[in-house]
Order: sequence, then structure tokens, then C-alpha cells
Amino acid sequence: MYLITLDSETDFDGWRKAARTLALHQVAPADVTWGVQGQTQDRMPPGLSEAPSLPPIETETTFSVPANFIELARIAILHRDDERFALLYRLLWRLKADHDLLETMADPDVAQAAAMAGSVQRDAQRMRDIVRFREIGREQKAHYATWFEPEHHIVAFTAPFFARRFADMPWSILTPDICAHWDGHAISFTPGISRTEKPAPGRLEETWRRHFQPDRMPTPEAPRTRPRNLQEASILGPLLADAERWTGGRISPRPEAPVTRKTTAGDDLERLREEAAHCRACHLYKDATQTVFGEGPKSANIMLVGEQPGDKEDLAGHPFVGPAGQMLDRALEEAGVDRKKVYVTNAVKHFKFVPRGKIRLHQKPATPEIRACRQWYEREVSAIQPDLIVAMGATAAQSVFGKITPIGKNRGRLIDLPDGRKALVTVHPSYLLRLPDPKAKVLEYQRFVEDLKIAATLQKKSARAA
Ligand code: URA
Repeated sequence: MYLITLDSETDFDGWRKAARTLALHQVAPADVTWGVQGQTQDRMPPGLSEAPSLPPIETETTFSVPANFIELARIAILHRDDERFALLYRLLWRLKADHDLLETMADPDVAQAAAMAGSVQRDAQRMRDIVRFREIGREQKAHYATWFEPEHHIVAFTAPFFARRFADMPWSILTPDICAHWDGHAISFTPGISRTEKPAPGRLEETWRRHFQPDRMPTPEAPRTRPRNLQEASILGPLLADAERWTGGRISPRPEAPVTRKTTAGDDLERLREEAAHCRACHLYKDATQTVFGEGPKSANIMLVGEQPGDKEDLAGHPFVGPAGQMLDRALEEAGVDRKKVYVTNAVKHFKFVPRGKIRLHQKPATPEIRACRQWYEREVSAIQPDLIVAMGATAAQSVFGKITPIGKNRGRLIDLPDGRKALVTVHPSYLLRLPDPKAKVLEYQRFVEDLKIAATLQKKSARAA
């Protein structure tokens, strides 16, 4: 009997390494007991005090498993069921003999692992949906905190989502498992807070101070990570959809924007458009006619991002079809960018306005509205996988960079985004329309065209490479 002790409840790399070694040594699943550091003692089979160690494996000895098994295991391992490590090893063991096993959804092991992954996905989605930060620590430095009780071990899995969405505010998510912290640069983790210390309503700040303020915030030694995307079920889609049939559960993975370029299949645009049509993430849907989603070919390597639909766009249901759109079309043509090959969207997808008699006066979207809508932008990026994102105006720049980004200082040059893409910041075409001085209008228009020429160069380069 072998006893494998993993470093933590979510130690996927440890599980993977041990599972590979065991499988290569032909150690049958029934001969392995899995545990987690600090808890293994309870799980040790009676009579087993010392686990035998396995001899090292020749590096060239290996075997392959389908990529969707790795993704399935990566997510299912976050389930709270103690049996998950053994179940996943059993699956791995069986996959050695039957490479197509995961296609047999009637198989109890396959169905159980898929159901576990689905349950983890739902819990992660619940967390994304219901976590609301409260401002605390006002008299010193603003900080935002929340208490959340996850069903599974999903805090590290979902933390990058919150880091991207709330990139410009420092936050802490307190949970009984672990606490996640974002300082504007990196995510760090500290031990969880016992349920007995769960903050009573209005007492969040007190709990946070007791544990973290000011000298107890994570030190640089605490594990820190960039808000990378722990790749969610891109290739698990079909498997989880099938699991739904076999387990009767509702399994609806929602992939996040990938950070490794061109590696995930991405969201299906039509599905996104349909979902966005029912978006209620902020109040703007109440007065707008409809959601105005992005448009353009899925193969576009350039994405243009505007602020929000205007009056004409709101009625037509298409982005940039009104006066600003005409100005944009003209400038794109002059710069040599083919609009038909570009994906055009807005940071905010509902028209925000105040009625003035028969007119609907445009209102600039506020930060909570930009944040609420950012999920759609992220998922459009995930689906389109553009090489270059052009942010037109301050609202677009705030959405693209996840924080307030001044136009003047940043316009007209390629800027690296954390996911490896390039961004280009420029003014919004409506700004040109509003300029009262005709001379300034001409000059600013020329500058806008110059900025867009950078995109044109890239479009031509990619056309040559294709
Ligand atoms: N302004 C924008 O930002 N987007 C549109 O679609 C139209 C006007």
C-alpha cells in the first residue's frame, strides 16, 4: 500500500506527478491511499505506518492521456470530496488501457468526475456572481473586503477573475479555507478564518483588522501570483455537457478570458451575443432599447473598443452606425484599415442617457457600469483572440486596462497587455465631433488617423503572413 501526501487540497501538480509515477510503476489504484499534508494521519489504513517509496522513473518512460482528462482533473480536484484524488487516479489508470474512456459517459467513474468538475464550475460561477466587496479602512487607506463560504476549494481558482475585474482596488476575500488578497499588482494568499469568526453583519472591518491590519497583511514571502487565468473548461465543454445528461445535474461552465494567447477555444460569439442580450449586471438595461453587442468576423486580429452605443446604435442594435461611426469609418479608410476585417465593440453595451424632451442625452458610463460590463469585453476577447485591441477614449481604455488610463500620455504607441496582446490607445471619434474649433478638429482628426495607421500596419502584416 502506498500513501501519497499532497501539499494542499488543491495540489494538482503534486497529484499529477505522483499519479504519473504510480501508473508507470504499475501500482493499482486499490493500492494507493491519498491524503493532504496535516490530515493524512486520519486516512492512513490500519497497520500502515510507513509508506514504501517508489524508485525514480526513467525520464523517457512515459504514456499519454487525452488533454481533456488533464483539464477535467485540474478542475475536479478542487471538489471537496475526499475521494477525488483516488477517483482521478483510477480514471488515469483506466485511460492507459482505454484512451477513449472519457467518451463513455455512462461509465460511473467518468460521470462522477465530470459531475464533480461541473459542481466546482457552478460554485466558481456562484462566487463570481454573488461576491460584493465592502469598503473598509477608510480612515487610513481604502481597502475592500468580503466574506465568502465556498462549497469547494475554488478561492485560488477564481481569484484571478476578481483581480482582473477589480484591478484598480485593493481587496481581500476572506473565507474559511484560505483568504485571497489583491494589492493592485499581485494576488497573495493567507490561511482561512474559522467559521466561528465569521464576521457578523457590519463587522467585516473588525474581522479584517484582527487578522490583517496593518502589520499582518501578507508579507512578500507569502505566495504571490499574477492574476493569470487558471484555464477553465475550454475543452471540457462537450464532456460537461454530456455529464449533464448522465448525472441530471445542471453543468454550465463559463470560460474566462485566457491569458495564454490562442490556447483556448474561447466562447462562441453567437452564444455570447444571446447571453448578453439578457444581461442584468447593472441597471442600464432598464432604459436602453437593447444590448448592442460587438460585431465583426471571428477571425479579426484587431478589436476596436468604443465607449457605449449612442442613440442610433441603441435603436439599430449595431455598434458605431451613427455620426461617431461615420467619422470612424472615414478615419479607418484613410488610415488603410479594412473595417470589414475588424471586430468593433463597446466597453459598455447598453446606451446610458437622460431624457431631455424628445432627445436622449448621452451620459458617460460610471465605473461600476464599466466593471459590470467588462465580463462581455473579456469574453469577446476570448472568442476573437485579437492581436491588437484599440481603445478609443477613456471609457474603453479603462475597460481594456482594467484601470483608469489617461489617453494623452498613452496614445499612439503599442502597449503590452498582461495576456501578451498589444493595445493601442487613441481618442474617441465623438470627441472629434464635439471639438468646436475647426482647425483643432482637422489636426485632431489627423492625429486619430495617424494612430489608426499603427493598426493598419499590423493588419497588413497579418494579411501577408496568412
Ligand atoms: N459611440 C461609441 O462609443 N460606440 C458606438 O457604438 C457609438 C458611439
